Amino acid sequence: MFEAPRGTRDFPPWEMDKRRYVEDKIRNTFKIYGYREIQTPTFEHLQVFTLKSGDAIIDEIYSFKDKGGRDLALRPELTAPVIRFYVEKLQMEPKPLKLFYIGNCFRYDRPQKGRYREFTQAGCELIGVDTPEAIAELIALAYNILRNIGLKNVDLHIGDLTILSTLFKKLGISDENKKEIIPLIDKEKFDELYLFMQNIGVSKDEIEWFLDVLKMDDISKLPVSDEIEEEVERLKDVFGFLRDIYSIDCKMKLSIVRGLDYYKDIVFEIEAPILGAEKQLCGGGIYELIPLFGGREAPSAGFAIGFDRAILAAETEGYRFPISTIDYYIIPLSTSLISKSIEIAQILRNKGLLVDVDLMRRGIGKALKYAGSINAKQTILLGPDELDKNAVTIRDMVTGEQKLVLIEELKNL
Ligand code: HAM
Repeated sequence: MFEAPRGTRDFPPWEMDKRRYVEDKIRNTFKIYGYREIQTPTFEHLQVFTLKSGDAIIDEIYSFKDKGGRDLALRPELTAPVIRFYVEKLQMEPKPLKLFYIGNCFRYDRPQKGRYREFTQAGCELIGVDTPEAIAELIALAYNILRNIGLKNVDLHIGDLTILSTLFKKLGISDENKKEIIPLIDKEKFDELYLFMQNIGVSKDEIEWFLDVLKMDDISKLPVSDEIEEEVERLKDVFGFLRDIYSIDCKMKLSIVRGLDYYKDIVFEIEAPILGAEKQLCGGGIYELIPLFGGREAPSAGFAIGFDRAILAAETEGYRFPISTIDYYIIPLSTSLISKSIEIAQILRNKGLLVDVDLMRRGIGKALKYAGSINAKQTILLGPDELDKNAVTIRDMVTGEQKLVLIEELKNL
């Protein structure tokens, strides 16, 4: 017996119904905000991903040599591929360029609930603008996509890497020490952070001040030095738009550092507290990759939603996705009526109705049971008595009510 590879999943029809439903909602919300869909290849040259992150990322992704000896990788995310595509072919397009995608990604993660080796991201990249209103719109879009999927309870946190690095500078923290400190901040291991900073000679008062700032959730309380004044103003404007115009509840969280190496300035994350460990549904922010790929300098920002986690969160909250149904299931009551049944099926299918016809030549009891199992709304029973009257019996599968309808009238259904 074979099993699907570790960290991958098969999706039965009832799961695909949900996934397509959610995909439609997401696609629609992106379009409502003026984004247009793109698609890039599932695999890229390995360098697309190592360029910024270095070879260390190879341990976390699926990379391989093809038969021509090229180093390739299955994409672990879509931002780097989209920027590769932009620099290669889309640089001349009018700005801002609002691009979205829904695609599968591959990471050599340790699988657990909500964490897979193959998963889907729904994301977007906004190229050519990073005004506060642009960033606020981007964040509002991410938030509203999750709400439109049916999620009720999500937490939106916004951080700023420029402000964070000014804090590091103020405390005189070296690049080497930053490498140790950043993961501790990311995981909010503040006790360990305290000890580490003490060991590298930061004074107690300064550590406490730093931790206070990291835990601060209200931007108006942030101590502002000349160096970060402009950035704080921009962040304040973003909060202003989100709260006052978009009516979105959001908090500042300077401990957001984001795992990927290309971010700068404003970053954000959206979580579903109900999911526990793997609760991060969305991450994004302003980043710099275009010059690295050889393109002309242009601002860029974006986000990606973990599609699978978003569905998991909505279901855990109790959201009921609509189940798929078919309009009619046609049952010929004798083999001589099979052709007539197919004819009727075609009349209805040509009208765009969802129609299935019994192909198993089984008795009415079993056929009706099957019709129930595929959520047929109505069944059409075709027997010799009905045919004598040029009619069929239509049975409502919810109420059990039956009525005789002339075949001629089926065209008007
Ligand atoms: P990321 O935070 O690495 O950002 O991934 C975005 C989302 O993908 C996460 O918040 C999470 O919901 C989902 N995700 C990540 N890994 C897994 C996994 N192993 N299984 C299931 N879901 C997962 C990015 O990828 C950036 N490219 C986002 C971005 C776009 N930034 C700017 N533009």
